[in-house]
Parts: sequence; structure tokens; C-alpha cells
Amino acid sequence: MKIFLDTANIEQIKHSCELGIVDGVTTNPTLVAKEKGKFKDLSGLIGTICDIVKGPVSVEAISENADDIISEAEKFAEISKYVVIKVPMTRDGLKAVKILSRNKIKTNMTLIFSANQALLAAKAGANYASPFIGRLDDISHEGMQIIVDIREIFSNYAFNTEVIVASIRHPLHVLEAAKIGADIATIPFDVLDKMLKHPLTDIGIEKFKADFEKVKGEYKI
Ligand code: G3P
Repeated sequence: MKIFLDTANIEQIKHSCELGIVDGVTTNPTLVAKEKGKFKDLSGLIGTICDIVKGPVSVEAISENADDIISEAEKFAEISKYVVIKVPMTRDGLKAVKILSRNKIKTNMTLIFSANQALLAAKAGANYASPFIGRLDDISHEGMQIIVDIREIFSNYAFNTEVIVASIRHPLHVLEAAKIGADIATIPFDVLDKMLKHPLTDIGIEKFKADFEKVKGEYKI
């Protein structure tokens, strides 16, 4: 499973990329808004993220009609070859994705809350589909069930669209996504941090250190 980082924060991206396990980044208007004032424009922020990640970086189109989404996408695509245009799942979004995919501009259909929406994204030729599982859980729908359904549908018809499990809130979401066989999980920085920690690892390190300390005079390294 590929791991994307769900953030627009440069420090978080640098720290995580240093680990060597980050394949890409997803941003959205909310995440980008949190970084206001740090770059002179959005292109600067996205370009910097692309330079660090050297993998797919999703940036979301704000426009609502197809023609405007396409113009926005064309401008974003000039920033870097790594840019992927996030397009919300609407009628105009689908139209735009179809055209962008013909024009070889990569797309990620976002704000997907049902398997049928993911099916339409794949039919339109989106490179990625982003179902938001945490937000479904928030309204008492079992978010992860749509990942199971999408996985099955995409396998049935051999769609190339990759499933990005988004709106991940905790490590169990990542575990479930991996067990289902989702292509990608896009993970917030704090969740990634929780995934790499285990109290028994810390206790184990302390115990090994203490045991070796007792005899270290007797060994050369
Ligand atoms: O990138 C989109 C997504 O992951 C949003 O997450 O927590 O705002 O539902 P959240």
C-alpha cells in the first residue's frame, strides 16, 4: 500500500519524507488555508511540496463549473509534473475529469461518499478516487464498507483508478484500509506518528540499554 501524507505543512512533509515511507501528498483547501502567510502564493507552496516529495501531490480546484475547473487545472499542472488535480465529485467535476484525463492531466476525484460515486470517477478516467471514510463514520455510516465495495467494483472491471482512503482519523483506519487492499491511504501527520510508536518498543529499548550497560566494559564494538 502506498502512503500519502494528508497535509500542506512543509515541516510535517519534510519530517515524514525523511522516513523514506511517503509516496505522495494530498492537500485540500482547508489544509492549504492553515499554511497562509508562509508562501507568497499557492504555486510556491505546491511547488515546494512537489520538490520535497517527488511523487504525486494533489491540489484542489476551487471552481465549480467544468470550464473553470479545467483552466485552474491547467495552471496548477504547470507548477510541476507531480501535480494531481483534485476535483470534487459533481456533474461538472466529472465533465472536467473526462477532459483533463484526455489531455493527460492527472486527476483525483474527491469528496466521494459512496461506491457509485467512485464508479463514476473511474468511468470518467480519474487517476485516483478519494472516499472520505472518517466523515462517513462521523454520521454513523460505516466508512470502511465503501472501500470494500469500491475495491470489488474496481477489480470486477479492471479499472486503473487508484483508491485513496481519505479522511483517516486514527491508525485503525490505516490497518483496515491495508487489510482490504486499498491502493493508498492518505494519512495525517499525527496518525502516522501514532503508527510508528508502540509502548513495548520503548520499554524494550530501555531494557536492552539497561542490560547492556551492566556489561558494556566487557565488550568492544
Ligand atoms: O484530504 C481530505 C481528507 O483527508 C479530509 O479529512 O479529517 O477533514 O475529514 P477530514
